[in-house]
Amino acid sequence: MSSILDSDPEEFRRAGHEAIDWIADFLTSIDRRPVLSRWSPGEVGRTFSSTPSEEGRSYGSLLEDFRSRILPGVTHWNHPAFFAYFAITGSQAGILGELLSAALNVNGMVWRSSPVATELETHVLEWLRGALGLPEGLFGIINDTASINTFLALAAAREATGLEIRAEGMSGRTLPQLRVYCSDQAHSSVEKAALALGFGVRGVTKIASDAGFSLDAGHLAAAIENDQRSGVIPCAVVGTAGTTSTSSFDPIAEMGEIARAAGAWLHVDAAYAGSAMLDPTHRHFWRGVESADSLVVNPHKWLFTQVDCSVLFTRRPDVLRETFSLVPEYLRTPEPVTNYMDYGLQLGRRFRALKLWMVLEHYGLTRLRQTISQHIDFAKRLAESLLARDDVELLAPQRMSVVVFRKLVRSEDGRVDEAASERKTEALLERMNQSGEVFVSHTRLRGTYGIRVAIGNGATTWEHVARILAFV
Ligand SMILES: Cc1ncc(COP(=O)(O)O)c(C=O)c1O
Repeated sequence: MSSILDSDPEEFRRAGHEAIDWIADFLTSIDRRPVLSRWSPGEVGRTFSSTPSEEGRSYGSLLEDFRSRILPGVTHWNHPAFFAYFAITGSQAGILGELLSAALNVNGMVWRSSPVATELETHVLEWLRGALGLPEGLFGIINDTASINTFLALAAAREATGLEIRAEGMSGRTLPQLRVYCSDQAHSSVEKAALALGFGVRGVTKIASDAGFSLDAGHLAAAIENDQRSGVIPCAVVGTAGTTSTSSFDPIAEMGEIARAAGAWLHVDAAYAGSAMLDPTHRHFWRGVESADSLVVNPHKWLFTQVDCSVLFTRRPDVLRETFSLVPEYLRTPEPVTNYMDYGLQLGRRFRALKLWMVLEHYGLTRLRQTISQHIDFAKRLAESLLARDDVELLAPQRMSVVVFRKLVRSEDGRVDEAASERKTEALLERMNQSGEVFVSHTRLRGTYGIRVAIGNGATTWEHVARILAFV
């Protein structure tokens, strides 16, 4: 007797073949679609019925709806001319990994809930650790996002102060002020994590960055010394290797020494640029990374792995475990193994290691390295072409695959008209994005508005990048 829910396996087989065929065609023809969706707010309400189907619908008709109703509302992150934010570079290998993971529908909360989910995660992260040139002995765990991994790292840092926060909590007792330090270029996820953990807005000190947008180590040392004199406890120092706005690099080695002297935890946010360290020639950018207590790298940013896949490495898994492990009777298991639920907030966890395994093994480190190098070369070429124009200014040194620039408008005396330059740059961004040919985003550096281009899609060629020049 067949089940009530999925009563026709052949319908699934037919629809599955059709979906895979569609995906293969989609990936090879995506360039003909506008990168940025042209939907206006509220389209779902106008496009879809107000109640779901009572009797159910065939996969065939749903796939038809997918094509005609869903696709127009998609901004195509898999488009080779997607240059906004940091491209989430979904690859073919990653798609297969996700598909198979969905078929298994494994929840890897404890080892026995699916041994291979835990063991492949440990194994693949050991490969990744070695491939990035990180020191031996690091513990790795995959979570959904860098935001969550930074949250976990700062929670461990808070526990490492010895203030017994896990046991005693933070309310109803007098605690010294705890502080987290990062640069004024750090990603907002650092501040968000600090807010959620009770450090408070005033518990985060943003150290001024230098002319190249890297944290100034002298300012960090002075701020910590000053705080210590007034009884503040430096809890964590967060360095960024590849900042969001400009891909600048903080001086991790110096920050490590300062953090160690102050008894603070060093967390490194390499969510974007960490993947570039597959190539040893870039590793000088994060010199000193071996002193990090924890480090986050997002394969879903620049390692061609579907969102979500963010890796937290730590050399102090014992602290992470002390912070989060809480095992009720119904989750107790007899094996002396890693149970990843002990190292974070969430219990249930997807089998994300499967897609990362597929990506690393299918492409191989050489092809991954070459693709990332090519992106950096494209960024260099773009920056050089922009620099050659006298009405364009680069707002930051080009690093990795990020270029930030603005259009310049000069008044009659030759001086830059700031307000007019901003209007012209904003108008240029709108024109580019409305065209559907490219999608770029913006940032503001020391108050100056700029168009930010980040190259990261595996299918991007120079022709796609050159489209930007045609608009400028
Ligand atoms: C440097 C950096 N860190 C952290 C994040 C947050 O990443 P996620 O979306 O994985 O939380 C970003 C996002 O772009 C980022 O650029």
